[in-house]
Amino acid sequence: MKILVIGSGGREHAMAWKLARSERVEKIYAAPGNGGTASENKCVNIAVSGGDPAAETGQEGLAAFAKENGVDLAVAGPEAPLAAGITDRFRAAGIAIAGADKKSARLEASKIYAKAFMKKYGVRAAESRNFSDPEDALKYARNHFGAAGAAPLVIKADGLAAGKGVVIAENFAGAGSCLSSFMKDRTLGDAGASVVLEEFLEGTEVSILAAVSASPGRKGVIIPFVSAKDHKRRFDGDRGPNTGGMGAIAPAPGFTEEVRDDFFEHIVKPTLKGIKAEGMDYRGFIFFGLMVQDRRCRLLEYNVRLGDPETQAVLPLMESDFADLCLAVASGRLEGFPLKWKDGAVCAPAAVAEGYPGAYRKGDPIAVNSAALAKTGARIFFAGAERSPGGAPGSLCRTSGGRVLAVSAEGKDAADASAKAYRALGAVHFEGMDFRKDIG
Ligand code: AMP
Ligand code: GLY
Repeated sequence: MKILVIGSGGREHAMAWKLARSERVEKIYAAPGNGGTASENKCVNIAVSGGDPAAETGQEGLAAFAKENGVDLAVAGPEAPLAAGITDRFRAAGIAIAGADKKSARLEASKIYAKAFMKKYGVRAAESRNFSDPEDALKYARNHFGAAGAAPLVIKADGLAAGKGVVIAENFAGAGSCLSSFMKDRTLGDAGASVVLEEFLEGTEVSILAAVSASPGRKGVIIPFVSAKDHKRRFDGDRGPNTGGMGAIAPAPGFTEEVRDDFFEHIVKPTLKGIKAEGMDYRGFIFFGLMVQDRRCRLLEYNVRLGDPETQAVLPLMESDFADLCLAVASGRLEGFPLKWKDGAVCAPAAVAEGYPGAYRKGDPIAVNSAALAKTGARIFFAGAERSPGGAPGSLCRTSGGRVLAVSAEGKDAADASAKAYRALGAVHFEGMDFRKDIG
Protein backbone atom coordinates (compact mmCIF):
# COMPACT_ATOMS: atom_id res chain seq x y z
CA MET A 1 0.00 0.00 0.00
CA LYS A 2 1.22 3.51 -0.85
CA ILE A 3 0.24 6.29 1.51
CA LEU A 4 0.35 10.07 1.18
CA VAL A 5 0.76 12.00 4.43
CA ILE A 6 -0.10 15.69 4.13
CA GLY A 7 1.62 18.15 6.47
CA SER A 8 5.04 19.08 7.77
CA GLY A 9 5.02 18.97 11.57
CA GLY A 10 6.02 16.62 14.36
CA ARG A 11 2.54 15.08 14.21
CA GLU A 12 3.10 14.12 10.57
CA HIS A 13 6.52 12.64 11.35
CA ALA A 14 4.91 10.52 14.08
CA MET A 15 2.15 9.45 11.66
CA ALA A 16 4.70 8.51 8.98
CA TRP A 17 6.76 6.59 11.54
CA LYS A 18 3.74 4.64 12.75
CA LEU A 19 2.53 3.94 9.21
CA ALA A 20 5.99 2.72 8.22
CA ARG A 21 5.75 0.02 10.90
CA SER A 22 2.81 -1.58 9.09
CA GLU A 23 3.76 -4.56 6.94
CA ARG A 24 1.09 -3.55 4.45
CA VAL A 25 2.71 -0.19 3.81
CA GLU A 26 5.28 -0.25 1.08
CA LYS A 27 5.86 3.45 0.53
CA ILE A 28 4.98 6.76 2.18
CA TYR A 29 5.02 10.13 0.49
CA ALA A 30 5.18 13.10 2.85
CA ALA A 31 3.88 16.34 1.35
CA PRO A 32 5.86 18.42 2.06
CA GLY A 33 7.17 16.59 5.15
CA ASN A 34 10.23 17.74 7.07
CA GLY A 35 13.79 16.70 7.86
CA GLY A 36 12.46 13.83 9.96
CA THR A 37 10.11 12.32 7.39
CA ALA A 38 12.90 12.68 4.79
CA SER A 39 14.91 10.09 6.72
CA GLU A 40 12.03 7.92 7.93
CA ASN A 41 11.86 4.30 6.86
CA LYS A 42 9.87 3.81 3.56
CA CYS A 43 9.24 7.55 3.39
CA VAL A 44 10.15 10.23 0.84
CA ASN A 45 9.28 13.91 0.87
CA ILE A 46 7.59 15.40 -2.15
CA ALA A 47 7.17 19.03 -3.07
CA VAL A 48 3.57 20.18 -3.24
CA SER A 49 3.12 21.16 -6.87
CA GLY A 50 0.89 24.21 -7.08
CA GLY A 51 1.99 25.31 -3.62
CA ASP A 52 0.20 25.10 -0.30
CA PRO A 53 -2.05 22.04 0.36
CA ALA A 54 -4.58 24.50 1.81
CA ALA A 55 -4.87 26.23 -1.59
CA GLU A 56 -6.94 24.89 -4.48
CA THR A 57 -3.91 24.65 -6.79
CA GLY A 58 -1.93 22.75 -4.15
CA GLN A 59 -4.80 20.33 -3.59
CA GLU A 60 -5.17 19.71 -7.30
CA GLY A 61 -1.41 19.15 -7.57
CA LEU A 62 -1.54 16.62 -4.75
CA ALA A 63 -4.55 14.81 -6.17
CA ALA A 64 -2.77 14.55 -9.53
CA PHE A 65 0.36 13.24 -7.80
CA ALA A 66 -1.71 10.66 -5.92
CA LYS A 67 -3.34 9.46 -9.14
CA GLU A 68 -0.08 9.27 -11.09
CA ASN A 69 1.76 7.44 -8.34
CA GLY A 70 -0.92 4.94 -7.39
CA VAL A 71 -1.48 6.27 -3.88
CA ASP A 72 -3.96 3.97 -2.11
CA LEU A 73 -4.71 6.20 0.83
CA ALA A 74 -4.09 9.79 1.89
CA VAL A 75 -4.04 11.05 5.48
CA ALA A 76 -4.27 14.78 6.15
CA GLY A 77 -2.56 16.14 9.29
CA PRO A 78 -3.31 19.86 9.73
CA GLU A 79 -6.60 21.74 9.84
CA ALA A 80 -6.03 24.28 7.06
CA PRO A 81 -6.16 21.81 4.12
CA LEU A 82 -9.18 20.08 5.71
CA ALA A 83 -11.06 23.34 6.21
CA ALA A 84 -10.24 24.23 2.60
CA GLY A 85 -11.84 21.01 1.35
CA ILE A 86 -8.94 18.70 0.49
CA THR A 87 -11.00 15.68 1.54
CA ASP A 88 -13.89 16.59 -0.74
CA ARG A 89 -11.50 17.14 -3.63
CA PHE A 90 -9.69 13.83 -3.09
CA ARG A 91 -12.93 11.88 -2.76
CA ALA A 92 -14.31 13.49 -5.92
CA ALA A 93 -11.14 12.30 -7.68
CA GLY A 94 -11.66 8.77 -6.33
CA ILE A 95 -8.74 8.82 -3.87
CA ALA A 96 -9.36 7.36 -0.41
CA ILE A 97 -8.53 9.84 2.34
CA ALA A 98 -8.77 9.83 6.13
CA GLY A 99 -9.72 13.39 7.05
CA ALA A 100 -12.76 15.49 7.88
CA ASP A 101 -14.68 16.81 4.89
CA LYS A 102 -15.23 20.53 4.52
CA LYS A 103 -18.62 20.50 6.22
CA SER A 104 -17.34 18.59 9.27
CA ALA A 105 -14.23 20.78 9.41
CA ARG A 106 -16.42 23.69 10.45
CA LEU A 107 -16.36 22.17 13.92
CA GLU A 108 -12.83 23.58 14.10
CA ALA A 109 -12.91 26.32 11.47
CA SER A 110 -15.73 28.26 13.15
CA LYS A 111 -15.96 28.54 16.93
CA ILE A 112 -19.45 30.04 16.53
CA TYR A 113 -20.59 27.02 14.54
CA ALA A 114 -18.95 24.66 17.04
CA LYS A 115 -20.63 26.35 20.01
CA ALA A 116 -24.02 26.25 18.28
CA PHE A 117 -23.47 22.55 17.54
CA MET A 118 -22.58 21.85 21.20
CA LYS A 119 -25.71 23.65 22.42
CA LYS A 120 -28.00 22.03 19.88
CA TYR A 121 -26.91 18.48 20.70
CA GLY A 122 -26.31 18.84 24.43
CA VAL A 123 -22.54 18.50 24.47
CA ARG A 124 -21.43 19.68 27.93
CA ALA A 125 -19.47 22.91 27.50
CA ALA A 126 -18.94 26.43 28.86
CA GLU A 127 -21.70 29.02 28.58
CA SER A 128 -21.07 31.50 25.78
CA ARG A 129 -22.44 34.29 23.59
CA ASN A 130 -21.54 35.22 20.02
CA PHE A 131 -20.84 38.75 18.80
CA SER A 132 -20.25 40.26 15.39
CA ASP A 133 -20.66 43.89 16.52
CA PRO A 134 -17.64 45.17 18.51
CA GLU A 135 -19.77 47.62 20.51
CA ASP A 136 -22.13 44.86 21.64
CA ALA A 137 -19.16 42.70 22.63
CA LEU A 138 -17.61 45.58 24.59
CA LYS A 139 -20.89 46.24 26.35
CA TYR A 140 -21.14 42.60 27.35
CA ALA A 141 -17.55 42.61 28.67
CA ARG A 142 -18.16 45.83 30.63
CA ASN A 143 -21.23 44.28 32.25
CA HIS A 144 -19.35 41.10 33.03
CA PHE A 145 -16.46 42.89 34.74
CA GLY A 146 -18.86 45.32 36.47
CA ALA A 147 -19.84 42.57 38.89
CA ALA A 148 -17.77 42.27 42.07
CA GLY A 149 -15.24 39.42 41.95
CA ALA A 150 -15.90 38.76 38.25
CA ALA A 151 -14.07 35.73 36.82
CA PRO A 152 -11.83 36.18 33.77
CA LEU A 153 -13.59 36.25 30.41
CA VAL A 154 -12.52 33.99 27.56
CA ILE A 155 -12.45 35.66 24.15
CA LYS A 156 -12.33 33.39 21.10
CA ALA A 157 -11.96 34.56 17.53
CA ASP A 158 -14.47 32.72 15.36
CA GLY A 159 -12.10 31.59 12.60
CA LEU A 160 -8.83 29.68 12.29
CA ALA A 161 -6.02 31.67 13.89
CA ALA A 162 -3.12 29.21 14.23
CA GLY A 163 -3.37 29.09 18.02
CA LYS A 164 -3.56 32.89 18.45
CA GLY A 165 -7.34 33.20 18.56
CA VAL A 166 -8.03 32.60 22.26
CA VAL A 167 -7.37 35.23 24.92
CA ILE A 168 -8.22 34.99 28.60
CA ALA A 169 -8.97 38.54 29.73
CA GLU A 170 -8.47 39.20 33.44
CA ASN A 171 -10.18 42.59 33.46
CA PHE A 172 -12.16 44.99 31.31
CA ALA A 173 -9.08 46.81 30.01
CA GLY A 174 -7.62 43.53 28.75
CA ALA A 175 -10.93 42.46 27.21
CA GLY A 176 -11.35 45.85 25.54
CA SER A 177 -7.96 45.88 23.90
CA CYS A 178 -8.34 42.28 22.70
CA LEU A 179 -11.80 42.94 21.26
CA SER A 180 -10.53 46.06 19.48
CA SER A 181 -7.58 44.28 17.98
CA PHE A 182 -9.64 41.24 16.86
CA MET A 183 -12.81 42.97 15.69
CA LYS A 184 -11.76 46.49 14.67
CA ASP A 185 -8.07 46.31 13.74
CA ARG A 186 -8.55 42.80 12.35
CA THR A 187 -5.16 41.62 13.57
CA LEU A 188 -6.27 38.07 12.73
CA GLY A 189 -7.91 39.10 9.46
CA ASP A 190 -11.49 37.93 8.98
CA ALA A 191 -10.97 35.20 11.58
CA GLY A 192 -11.52 37.81 14.30
CA ALA A 193 -14.47 39.65 12.74
CA SER A 194 -16.82 37.71 15.03
CA VAL A 195 -16.04 36.38 18.47
CA VAL A 196 -17.35 34.03 21.12
CA LEU A 197 -17.28 35.34 24.68
CA GLU A 198 -17.13 32.39 26.97
CA GLU A 199 -17.35 31.54 30.64
CA PHE A 200 -13.94 30.84 32.20
CA LEU A 201 -13.62 27.23 33.31
CA GLU A 202 -11.30 25.95 35.98
CA GLY A 203 -9.88 22.47 36.13
CA THR A 204 -7.36 20.25 34.40
CA GLU A 205 -7.05 20.17 30.62
CA VAL A 206 -7.04 16.82 28.87
CA SER A 207 -6.82 16.06 25.15
CA ILE A 208 -8.60 13.09 23.67
CA LEU A 209 -7.84 12.17 20.07
CA ALA A 210 -10.27 9.83 18.35
CA ALA A 211 -11.04 8.14 15.07
CA VAL A 212 -14.45 8.95 13.63
CA SER A 213 -16.41 7.44 10.84
CA ALA A 214 -19.93 8.68 10.34
CA SER A 215 -21.54 8.92 6.93
CA PRO A 216 -25.16 9.35 5.93
CA GLY A 217 -26.89 5.98 5.99
CA ARG A 218 -24.40 4.32 8.35
CA LYS A 219 -24.56 3.84 12.08
CA GLY A 220 -21.34 5.74 12.70
CA VAL A 221 -18.80 5.46 15.49
CA ILE A 222 -16.24 7.52 17.39
CA ILE A 223 -13.38 5.50 18.89
CA PRO A 224 -11.35 7.53 21.42
CA PHE A 225 -7.62 6.94 21.80
CA VAL A 226 -5.74 6.88 25.11
CA SER A 227 -5.90 10.25 26.85
CA ALA A 228 -3.08 12.80 26.64
CA LYS A 229 -2.00 16.03 28.22
CA ASP A 230 -0.40 18.91 26.35
CA HIS A 231 1.74 21.54 28.10
CA LYS A 232 0.96 24.79 26.35
CA ARG A 233 2.84 27.31 28.47
CA ARG A 234 6.41 28.06 27.55
CA PHE A 235 8.04 27.64 30.97
CA ASP A 236 8.16 25.10 33.78
CA GLY A 237 5.27 25.13 36.23
CA ASP A 238 2.85 26.32 33.49
CA ARG A 239 4.24 29.83 33.46
CA GLY A 240 4.90 32.17 30.57
CA PRO A 241 3.26 32.67 27.18
CA ASN A 242 1.19 30.08 25.36
CA THR A 243 2.93 28.05 22.67
CA GLY A 244 1.94 25.44 20.12
CA GLY A 245 2.74 22.87 22.83
CA MET A 246 5.96 22.28 24.80
CA GLY A 247 5.39 18.58 25.19
CA ALA A 248 2.81 15.91 25.87
CA ILE A 249 2.30 12.92 28.05
CA ALA A 250 -0.02 9.96 27.55
CA PRO A 251 -2.12 8.81 29.27
CA ALA A 252 -3.20 12.02 31.01
CA PRO A 253 -2.72 11.74 34.78
CA GLY A 254 -6.04 11.46 36.60
CA PHE A 255 -8.11 10.52 33.56
CA THR A 256 -9.71 7.54 35.30
CA GLU A 257 -12.32 5.09 34.01
CA GLU A 258 -14.95 7.14 35.83
CA VAL A 259 -13.94 10.34 34.03
CA ARG A 260 -13.75 8.46 30.73
CA ASP A 261 -17.34 7.25 31.23
CA ASP A 262 -18.46 10.82 31.89
CA PHE A 263 -16.61 11.95 28.74
CA PHE A 264 -18.28 9.24 26.70
CA GLU A 265 -21.76 10.03 27.97
CA HIS A 266 -21.67 13.84 27.90
CA ILE A 267 -19.25 14.60 25.07
CA VAL A 268 -18.78 11.67 22.66
CA LYS A 269 -22.38 10.44 22.45
CA PRO A 270 -23.99 13.82 21.77
CA THR A 271 -21.19 14.70 19.33
CA LEU A 272 -21.83 11.58 17.28
CA LYS A 273 -25.55 12.26 17.38
CA GLY A 274 -24.92 15.77 16.06
CA ILE A 275 -22.57 14.63 13.31
CA LYS A 276 -25.25 12.24 12.08
CA ALA A 277 -28.13 14.66 12.45
CA GLU A 278 -26.24 17.35 10.52
CA GLY A 279 -25.63 14.86 7.70
CA MET A 280 -21.86 15.17 7.83
CA ASP A 281 -19.68 12.69 5.97
CA TYR A 282 -17.01 12.67 8.65
CA ARG A 283 -14.39 10.00 8.09
CA GLY A 284 -11.25 11.18 9.79
CA PHE A 285 -9.96 12.17 13.18
CA ILE A 286 -11.40 14.39 15.88
CA PHE A 287 -9.76 16.01 18.89
CA PHE A 288 -11.68 16.84 22.05
CA GLY A 289 -10.09 19.56 24.18
CA LEU A 290 -11.55 18.94 27.63
CA MET A 291 -11.59 20.73 30.94
CA VAL A 292 -12.03 18.24 33.76
CA GLN A 293 -13.20 19.40 37.15
CA ASP A 294 -14.55 17.22 39.96
CA ARG A 295 -14.42 14.23 37.60
CA ARG A 296 -16.81 15.96 35.15
CA CYS A 297 -15.74 16.83 31.61
CA ARG A 298 -16.62 19.93 29.67
CA LEU A 299 -15.62 20.54 26.07
CA LEU A 300 -13.40 23.53 25.32
CA GLU A 301 -12.98 22.85 21.63
CA TYR A 302 -13.12 20.43 18.76
CA ASN A 303 -10.26 20.05 16.34
CA VAL A 304 -10.91 18.00 13.23
CA ARG A 305 -7.48 16.36 13.22
CA LEU A 306 -5.00 14.72 15.52
CA GLY A 307 -3.30 17.00 18.05
CA ASP A 308 0.26 18.20 17.95
CA PRO A 309 2.21 17.34 20.16
CA GLU A 310 -0.30 14.79 21.58
CA THR A 311 0.10 12.51 18.56
CA GLN A 312 3.82 12.14 19.29
CA ALA A 313 2.91 10.72 22.72
CA VAL A 314 -0.20 8.74 21.75
CA LEU A 315 0.78 6.87 18.56
CA PRO A 316 3.72 5.02 20.18
CA LEU A 317 1.18 3.50 22.60
CA MET A 318 -1.03 2.22 19.79
CA GLU A 319 -0.63 -1.52 19.42
CA SER A 320 -2.94 -1.79 16.41
CA ASP A 321 -1.79 -1.20 12.86
CA PHE A 322 -2.28 2.52 12.15
CA ALA A 323 -2.55 1.93 8.39
CA ASP A 324 -5.43 -0.50 8.98
CA LEU A 325 -7.10 2.07 11.21
CA CYS A 326 -6.71 4.85 8.61
CA LEU A 327 -8.14 2.57 5.90
CA ALA A 328 -11.11 1.66 8.10
CA VAL A 329 -11.68 5.35 8.79
CA ALA A 330 -11.43 6.41 5.15
CA SER A 331 -13.73 3.66 3.91
CA GLY A 332 -16.36 4.28 6.59
CA ARG A 333 -15.95 0.78 8.04
CA LEU A 334 -14.66 1.68 11.48
CA GLU A 335 -17.46 0.07 13.50
CA GLY A 336 -16.07 -2.84 15.50
CA PHE A 337 -12.44 -1.96 14.76
CA PRO A 338 -10.42 -3.69 17.49
CA LEU A 339 -8.24 -0.76 18.51
CA LYS A 340 -5.62 -1.98 21.03
CA TRP A 341 -3.27 -0.06 23.28
CA LYS A 342 -0.10 -0.93 25.14
CA ASP A 343 0.23 -0.52 28.88
CA GLY A 344 2.62 2.08 30.20
CA ALA A 345 3.11 5.72 29.33
CA VAL A 346 4.86 7.95 26.82
CA CYS A 347 6.51 11.27 27.56
CA ALA A 348 7.30 13.59 24.65
CA PRO A 349 8.98 16.88 25.58
CA ALA A 350 9.66 19.35 22.77
CA ALA A 351 12.99 21.06 22.15
CA VAL A 352 12.52 24.60 20.90
CA ALA A 353 14.69 27.21 19.23
CA GLU A 354 16.05 30.21 21.13
CA GLY A 355 13.43 32.99 21.20
CA TYR A 356 10.39 30.75 20.69
CA PRO A 357 7.42 31.52 20.85
CA GLY A 358 8.63 34.96 19.70
CA ALA A 359 11.08 35.45 16.82
CA TYR A 360 13.49 32.53 16.95
CA ARG A 361 16.89 31.36 15.65
CA LYS A 362 16.97 29.23 12.52
CA GLY A 363 19.49 27.31 10.47
CA ASP A 364 21.43 25.67 13.32
CA PRO A 365 22.70 22.14 12.72
CA ILE A 366 21.07 19.50 14.93
CA ALA A 367 23.50 16.98 16.37
CA VAL A 368 22.21 13.61 17.60
CA ASN A 369 24.33 11.14 19.54
CA SER A 370 22.67 8.04 18.09
CA ALA A 371 24.31 5.56 20.45
CA ALA A 372 23.26 7.52 23.53
CA LEU A 373 19.75 7.97 22.12
CA ALA A 374 19.44 4.26 21.34
CA LYS A 375 20.23 3.36 24.96
CA THR A 376 17.15 5.24 26.14
CA GLY A 377 14.86 3.52 23.61
CA ALA A 378 13.41 6.94 22.76
CA ARG A 379 12.87 8.25 19.25
CA ILE A 380 12.92 11.72 17.76
CA PHE A 381 9.97 13.23 15.93
CA PHE A 382 11.22 16.23 13.98
CA ALA A 383 9.04 19.28 13.40
CA GLY A 384 10.78 22.59 12.57
CA ALA A 385 13.76 20.81 11.08
CA GLU A 386 14.85 20.48 7.47
CA ARG A 387 17.38 18.25 5.89
CA SER A 388 20.57 20.19 5.25
CA PRO A 389 20.77 21.19 1.58
CA GLY A 390 22.29 18.41 -0.47
CA GLY A 391 22.17 16.12 2.55
CA ALA A 392 21.71 12.41 2.00
CA PRO A 393 18.92 10.50 3.76
CA GLY A 394 19.91 10.10 7.39
CA SER A 395 22.22 13.10 7.28
CA LEU A 396 21.96 15.85 9.83
CA CYS A 397 19.06 18.27 9.90
CA ARG A 398 19.10 21.93 10.71
CA THR A 399 16.52 23.96 12.58
CA SER A 400 13.83 25.70 10.52
CA GLY A 401 10.99 26.28 12.98
CA GLY A 402 10.30 27.26 16.58
CA ARG A 403 9.36 23.83 17.85
CA VAL A 404 12.26 21.90 16.40
CA LEU A 405 11.61 18.34 17.55
CA ALA A 406 10.19 16.19 20.32
CA VAL A 407 11.75 13.10 21.80
CA SER A 408 9.21 10.41 22.55
CA ALA A 409 10.02 7.84 25.21
CA GLU A 410 7.99 4.87 26.42
CA GLY A 411 8.13 3.77 30.04
CA LYS A 412 6.29 1.57 32.48
CA ASP A 413 4.67 4.67 33.94
CA ALA A 414 4.83 8.45 33.53
CA ALA A 415 7.85 8.86 35.80
CA ASP A 416 9.82 6.17 33.97
CA ALA A 417 8.88 7.59 30.54
CA SER A 418 9.81 11.08 31.65
CA ALA A 419 13.22 9.98 33.00
CA LYS A 420 13.98 8.25 29.68
CA ALA A 421 12.79 11.21 27.62
CA TYR A 422 15.07 13.61 29.47
CA ARG A 423 18.02 11.25 29.11
CA ALA A 424 17.24 11.16 25.39
CA LEU A 425 17.15 14.96 25.17
CA GLY A 426 20.70 14.86 26.54
CA ALA A 427 21.69 13.10 23.31
CA VAL A 428 20.42 15.98 21.17
CA HIS A 429 22.02 19.34 20.68
CA PHE A 430 21.58 22.50 18.63
CA GLU A 431 22.65 26.05 19.36
CA GLY A 432 20.09 27.81 21.56
CA MET A 433 18.13 24.60 22.27
CA ASP A 434 15.73 24.84 25.20
CA PHE A 435 12.98 22.68 26.67
CA ARG A 436 10.66 22.41 29.65
CA LYS A 437 11.99 20.16 32.36
CA ASP A 438 8.63 19.19 33.87
CA ILE A 439 6.79 17.31 31.13
CA GLY A 440 5.27 14.25 32.76
P1 AMP B 1 -9.26 26.50 22.48
O1 AMP B 1 -8.60 26.81 21.17
O2 AMP B 1 -10.71 26.77 22.51
O3 AMP B 1 -8.92 25.13 23.03
O4 AMP B 1 -8.54 27.43 23.54
C1 AMP B 1 -7.15 27.44 23.70
C2 AMP B 1 -6.80 27.34 25.16
O5 AMP B 1 -7.44 28.38 25.89
C3 AMP B 1 -7.30 26.07 25.81
O6 AMP B 1 -6.42 25.02 25.62
C4 AMP B 1 -7.41 26.50 27.25
O7 AMP B 1 -6.13 26.50 27.86
C5 AMP B 1 -7.86 27.91 27.15
N1 AMP B 1 -9.34 28.00 27.22
C6 AMP B 1 -10.20 27.94 26.20
N2 AMP B 1 -11.48 28.05 26.61
C7 AMP B 1 -11.42 28.19 27.94
C8 AMP B 1 -12.41 28.34 28.97
N3 AMP B 1 -13.72 28.41 28.69
N4 AMP B 1 -11.98 28.44 30.24
C9 AMP B 1 -10.66 28.39 30.55
N5 AMP B 1 -9.69 28.25 29.63
C10 AMP B 1 -10.05 28.15 28.35
N1 GLY C 1 -2.22 20.40 21.08
C1 GLY C 1 -3.34 21.14 20.67
C2 GLY C 1 -3.64 21.10 19.25
O1 GLY C 1 -3.17 20.26 18.50
O2 GLY C 1 -4.41 21.94 18.80
